[in-house]
Amino acid sequence: MPDTSNLARSLFSPLPARYDSLAEILSFHQNERWRLAAVNAIARGLANGEAGGARGGGGTAGGAGRGPLILDVASGTAGVAIEIARRTGGTVVGVDLTERMLRRGAANVAGSPVAGRIKLAVGQAERLPFADATFDGLAFSYLLRYVADPQATLTELARVVKPGGTMASLEFCVPGGPVWHPAWLAYTRLVLPVAGLVAGGPAWWRVGRFLGPSISGHYRRYPVGWTVRAWQQAGFTDLGARTMSLGGGLIMWGTRARD
Ligand SMILES: C[S@@+](CC[C@H](N)C(=O)[O-])C[C@H]1O[C@@H](n2cnc3c(N)ncnc32)[C@H](O)[C@@H]1O
Repeated sequence: MPDTSNLARSLFSPLPARYDSLAEILSFHQNERWRLAAVNAIARGLANGEAGGARGGGGTAGGAGRGPLILDVASGTAGVAIEIARRTGGTVVGVDLTERMLRRGAANVAGSPVAGRIKLAVGQAERLPFADATFDGLAFSYLLRYVADPQATLTELARVVKPGGTMASLEFCVPGGPVWHPAWLAYTRLVLPVAGLVAGGPAWWRVGRFLGPSISGHYRRYPVGWTVRAWQQAGFTDLGARTMSLGGGLIMWGTRARD
């Protein structure tokens, strides 16, 4: 599989200082809503699932008395990891390939009330440094556009989830229809790069220019229906998918099948 990690690292390394505030401003605070929806899907899955340490409250791989163990992939500045720890009472391991994003994440974690229950480590989604069936739950956000082979990556994510465990994701999506699609194109191709430049400087201009074409290109190659089948192929059942904000965000969830 070709290694596409340099692209993500070079895009994200200059961003961490203002990442959290600009991600919210440039998404009109939709990022926050989408994250909560993905975290709720994980929490629901853990509460219903048989792998989830949350159900008995006694913990499984998370260690005695520490609730479920959840992996957050492409954790970045740890916003999702913090919310999962807060919402589920579990222990969260966050991995990301951009060290500078994680350093900012570590500062965010240290200032949060769940600091003792989150560990962050450099790691790549395509080859996770964990044994099979380690985690009760797994979340990933804004990841699949950065990997060369989304099917192989989903299979690798599935590998580390316990049978009966839960996975949820958050990705951008492409609004459809005669009004929202052109409005989304205008926002992502024109407004976003300029607003990024004004608010965050050249690094945000670069991200702003990259984002729209990257999202469109991804869904031309891997439409939502393809992604649903890819989750099934990777071994997930009971799949759910929900678009939010007129189609700008896509939340998915599912349960790792028993072999
Ligand atoms: C848009 S940021 C999202 C960060 C975080 N999930 C959030 O919601 O704020 C995307 C993150 O994905 C990470 N990333 C991209 N490709 C990756 C890969 N193959 N493995 C692990 N992390 C990856 C980047 O380093 C970046 O931190």
